[in-house]
Amino acid sequence: MNTPVEGFSKLSKAEKMDWIANQCTKDPEATKKLLERYWNPDPNVQKLHDEFIENTISNYYLPFAVAPNFLINGEFYAIPMAIEESSVVAAASKAAKFWLDKGGFKTTILGTEKVGQVHFMYNGDAQKLQAFFKKIHPILFSSVASITQNMEKRGGGINAIELRDCTDKIPGYYQLHCTFETLDAMGANFINSCLEQFAKTLKEKAKDHQDFSEGEKNIEVVMSILSNYVPNCLVRAEVECPVEKLVIKDISSEDFSQKFVQAVNIANVEPYRAVTHNKGIMNGIDAVVLATGNDFRAVEAGVHAYASKNGSYSSLTHAAIEDGIFKFWIEIPLALGTVGGLTSLHPLVKLALEILQNPSAKELMQIVAVAGLAQNFAAVKSLVTTGIQKGHMKMHLLNMLNQMGATESEKEQLVHYFKHETVTNASVKEALEKLQRS
Ligand code: MEV
Repeated sequence: MNTPVEGFSKLSKAEKMDWIANQCTKDPEATKKLLERYWNPDPNVQKLHDEFIENTISNYYLPFAVAPNFLINGEFYAIPMAIEESSVVAAASKAAKFWLDKGGFKTTILGTEKVGQVHFMYNGDAQKLQAFFKKIHPILFSSVASITQNMEKRGGGINAIELRDCTDKIPGYYQLHCTFETLDAMGANFINSCLEQFAKTLKEKAKDHQDFSEGEKNIEVVMSILSNYVPNCLVRAEVECPVEKLVIKDISSEDFSQKFVQAVNIANVEPYRAVTHNKGIMNGIDAVVLATGNDFRAVEAGVHAYASKNGSYSSLTHAAIEDGIFKFWIEIPLALGTVGGLTSLHPLVKLALEILQNPSAKELMQIVAVAGLAQNFAAVKSLVTTGIQKGHMKMHLLNMLNQMGATESEKEQLVHYFKHETVTNASVKEALEKLQRS
């Protein structure tokens, strides 16, 4: 158990490392060496990473990979992914290749609207509030002119500001529900700056509003914040082909397509399955979102809320067979940016965007949705045929061998051996011991 510390953020990096190593670890010298080993040898690069957040003591590595051969709307992409789970990139690459000779992936942007809200309390006559809102509506827009100027020049800005009466949920609770177009920016700073100014203007103007009683003049702003629920910032990705083109080992095309559709239908109606089904989709989505420097927590929160929009948590993907054509698609809300944030700061984020040919936010939404659909196709294809463990454990084999301390030559021999054997923890341990004995 360590002790509380005062002013930790003000300590130097070396002092922070010392404190952590001494207070929290058994071998402080080894801890410090480990932390240093993961520093970047270029002090400028390290400084950049140090300054992303507070209290940085080292870097936390994740593999940065690419899944090639994605054909999206007739263009080829190699998709960068940052993820630790062994089978994800392999599965994405396999799915990309599977759909390559079947026309690839098609995508459509269904909307790009972002949302933010000023939540406030007003205890008074609702009609008077409506009249007040009507009066200040143009003033709310003009009050943020200096913030919106540049965004408007590029074709974005505030779409609408609405007064919402939420007094049926909490007495006295109202909102300014605002929608925005933030173009290639994810837009969090832009939206939050606008909202905070709306809140100020709302309060100030209420104080001077002659029709309000003294109590009504006293609007209490509770908070002003963007929403990560963006059901109208939506993208669709799809694949389709004649059923007979679904050539899969050891199963007929008809059986495969029917089983696949059944599996997706189960995820549509059964929340326990839907959560895992969608987790598989997020394996692909988060990996690209992270590689491109976007906020995967925001995406996760918004996506899962969208999956529950009909009152029960359900699948984000859908599948059908119509007139002998197998169709598989996803509709997913994705608020992403390709400018601002980490995009021009993190060298690997810049590279990821360059690998994707420096996409607009709309193009990135389409690529990310495809990564999710491809990942789900790979997972469900395995689940309804061989089962998930075969491929997963094969990919996990190197992790297991590393954990068991296998040498490079032992790893090479065992990877070869397990090409035709079932990988389990016990079977790998036994094979390694046998090899070491021989
Ligand atoms: C594992 O990370 C993801 C899967 O469980 C997804 C799924 O079951 O569809 C394989």
